[in-house]
Parts: sequence; C-alpha cells; structure tokens
Amino acid sequence: MDADLSLEFLRVVEQAAIAAAHTMGQGDRHHSDQVAVEAMRQCLDSVPIDGTIVIGEGERDEAPMLYIGEKVGRATKGRGASADPQIDIAVDPLEGTNLCATGSPNAIAVLAASDRGGLLHAPDIYMEKLVVGPSSRDAVSLDAPVADNLKAIAQCLDRSVDDLVVIVLDRPRHQQLIEDIRATGARIRLIPDGDLSAGISAAVVGTGVHAVMGTGGAPEGVLTAAAMRCLNGEIFARLVVDKPEHEARCRAMGITDIKRVYTSADLASAESIIFAATGVTDGTLMRGVRFFGDGTRTSSVIMQTNPHRIRFVDSIHVNEDREVKIRF
Ligand code: FBP
Repeated sequence: MDADLSLEFLRVVEQAAIAAAHTMGQGDRHHSDQVAVEAMRQCLDSVPIDGTIVIGEGERDEAPMLYIGEKVGRATKGRGASADPQIDIAVDPLEGTNLCATGSPNAIAVLAASDRGGLLHAPDIYMEKLVVGPSSRDAVSLDAPVADNLKAIAQCLDRSVDDLVVIVLDRPRHQQLIEDIRATGARIRLIPDGDLSAGISAAVVGTGVHAVMGTGGAPEGVLTAAAMRCLNGEIFARLVVDKPEHEARCRAMGITDIKRVYTSADLASAESIIFAATGVTDGTLMRGVRFFGDGTRTSSVIMQTNPHRIRFVDSIHVNEDREVKIRF
C-alpha cells in the first residue's frame, strides 16, 4: 500500500472528527454518529483507492452508508484511474458516541487500511480483550488468571503491581474482573466508553496506562489490532459467541474457529497497515477539535507499518476568505 495514502486517510478522520465535534455535548449520540459517518463517507470518495469497507457501521440493511461491503474511494465514482489500489478499510467514524454527546474525554474518529484481505472481517459482537504495551507482550495470556498477568506486566515494567493502572469499561459484566484486579492491589481506571483509545494509550509509554482488560466490541478490537501493529503493542482477543445467531454471523464472515485467541497479527494481518485517528474531545494522546472562529484545529495520530512511522499531527484548517492569525 502506498505510504502517501496516510495523508489522505488523515484528511478523512480529521473531517469526521470536525463534524462530530460540532455536536459535542448536545446529548444526541445518534446525531453525532450520523454527521461523523456522512463526513467520513463523503471525504473517502476523494481518496485515490478502490476501497471496500470491511469493518463499518453494520450490515447493508442496518446502515445507509459505510456498511460492510460498501465500495468507497475515487475509483468507485468513475473518476479514478483503473489502477487505483484495492484497499480494505475499517472505520469507526465516531468511537465513543456517548462521550461526544456528553462532552466527555477520549471520543475519536478512526480509520485503518490495508491491502485487500489484511483485516479480519469481524461481526459486530463482543470480544474479550487484553491489551498491553511492547514490554509486556510476550509475558501475558488471555487465559491466564488476572493476578498472573498483572504480576507479569509489573515485572516487565520493573515496578510493583500496585503501581499499575488498568483500564476497564465500566459495565456490570466486569464486576468479577474488577474485583480480581482490585484484589491484586493494581489501580483501575473505569471508563464509560472507548476501549479503543484506551488500548492505544496502553501501548504508548508515558501515558500512565499499562493494560486494558475486559469485553468490548469486536470491530473496535480489529481497529485496536491495527494500531498495535504500528505501536508494537499487543492485543489478545476472543470473540464472545454466546448465541446461535452469533455463530451463524461468524461463519457468514468466514470465521470457523469461534474459540480462537487472536493476536494483532491475526486480526490485522497485512504487511502494510495504515491507522489514522483524530481527537473529537480531549484525550490522553490527542486534543479534541477546537473551533476558533477563523478556523479549526485538530490533533491526530497517523501510523503505518511500511515504512514504520508514527506521526502526531496538529492541523489548522483555515476558513475561506478570512484573515487568519495562526497561534502557536
Ligand atoms: P460507540 O462508539 O458505538 O458508542 O461504542 C463505544 C464502546 O464503548 C466501545 O469503545 C466498546 O468496545 C463498546 O462500546 C462496548 O460496548 P457496550 O457499550 O455494549 O458495552
């Protein structure tokens, strides 16, 4: 995949984030999501790719755009060269719809891309997840007791277990997990939503986050895997298949081993991955969108495996026909 596409994808997530940020705090998560989806969809059609959505807003009959299987990119509008590359796209135009609707931290707009076939087609069901940074990736297991994993992470980070911070989605289903973590003495940050941005934080040294544990969305798991490929962190994950219809949906997407423990290399297997995210509201790694009258400022991360590069990008989008003063 051409590395130059990274800047195109950056533009796509910036536009989705700006659209969502206009609705911040208005209390309408569906509206926030809708405007982010529309902005992302529109912007994707100017990108020089022959793209296919593999992780999106759902099946065709439940999502009007960015549905799984939808063709996106310049080539699909008949404007592109027939040589436009075939690219698979995973999107979450607004990760943390409630976070945006309530003006809470860590809402982001996200996209990951790979050559065709390089991202798992995962149904929108739950997934058990364990996300850690590069130092601990070879020391933990999804099936190990929580206490063993935390001891191993602490050893890898050369500190005691009580110095660790684990992020967990604040859900009743995590009651036992939370008790198990507390019993070790490790500290917990309970979050209302957004285990994808939490996972990214766990893989970046200096964020004060050492692991993410618990069950969240499978689509977010695939996006987390794409980020881990770039950050050298790791996600261990297993689909939660607890209804017969889940099994059928997995099979329809080509997944036969429903008990499999996936790693980032399984979920995002392409040699070449691009991952782009822009902050909608203020977060650990990115600031939220700021409107300053003459323009808009966005804060993003754009990462890729080939060449292996992580860029933190601060953009100022200048409104037309205005005299703008750029501040540092
Ligand atoms: P939305 O962006 O769709 O609101 O999802 C946010 C999120 O918190 C994810 O980060 C997480 O993986 C999933 O929802 C958890 O699902 P649930 O809210 O059903 O526990």
